[in-house]
Amino acid sequence: APPDAASLLELAVATAREAAELVRRGRATAGDDVAVKSSPVDVVTAVDAASEHLVVGRLLGARPDDGVLGEEGAQRPGTTGVRWIVDPIDGTVNFLYDLPAYAVSIAAEVDGAVVAGVVLNAATGELFTAVAGGGAFRSAPGEDAPVRLTGSRASSLGLSLVATGFGYRVEQRRAQGAVVAALLPRVRDIRRHGSAALELCAAAAGRVDAYYETGLEPWDHAAGALVAAEAGLVLGGLPGRAFGEPLVVAAAPGIADDLLALLGELHRA
Ligand code: IPD
Repeated sequence: APPDAASLLELAVATAREAAELVRRGRATAGDDVAVKSSPVDVVTAVDAASEHLVVGRLLGARPDDGVLGEEGAQRPGTTGVRWIVDPIDGTVNFLYDLPAYAVSIAAEVDGAVVAGVVLNAATGELFTAVAGGGAFRSAPGEDAPVRLTGSRASSLGLSLVATGFGYRVEQRRAQGAVVAALLPRVRDIRRHGSAALELCAAAAGRVDAYYETGLEPWDHAAGALVAAEAGLVLGGLPGRAFGEPLVVAAAPGIADDLLALLGELHRA
């Protein structure tokens, strides 16, 4: 029988806590060992690699036959139907600059569907979790019981706060900049936090009314998208295309149709 989502979540949370501790301790020396990936502004630190190594080691230590997909290269198919999708530091640029919005993101997929997800802000200790069909929750150090998340009740796109992000390749940034320029005068305002995982959780917590971005990878959105969906947000993509290929949208139900239609238009333009 497939493992239950709650036990996968438990393992993911324990693992994320350990990794977040490693990331926090690595902050002071974050700039010492930086390499570039897809472009000169796409950075990766030695701490990203160390965090992924820890996460994969813990997950496979507990469940040796599972599959893994990690941002920094971990990849194996596994034989159990469970695959872990890992972003060891989502928001690496924030991490480098000591902006307190960088997270460890771990999702558990069973037979291709994400069933559990955790996003842990390593700088603040704020924790977001979700299990498919079980709701989304937020907790933070020094606070009482976890709080169930219900997203925003926005009903007018023109009065909505919309978060987005940008990839690292120059052509992609040019196109994303053109879309955001057209969107800006049609919404309340735009935010860019620098961590897709945390932005999806911000939408789940109602701190923004929606989030969208093109060109994300599964590790950027797997856990955060489950948190957003379980908080009642509508997930979507381009008309006729699957979520994430290439557009990820999480929007409050009252504005989702309008935002999806507008983003569809702007991405055709
Ligand atoms: C990035 C962040 C950023 C988003 C980029 C991602 P990384 O992930 O989530 O907010 O705009 O598209 O690549 O590189 O920090 O793990």
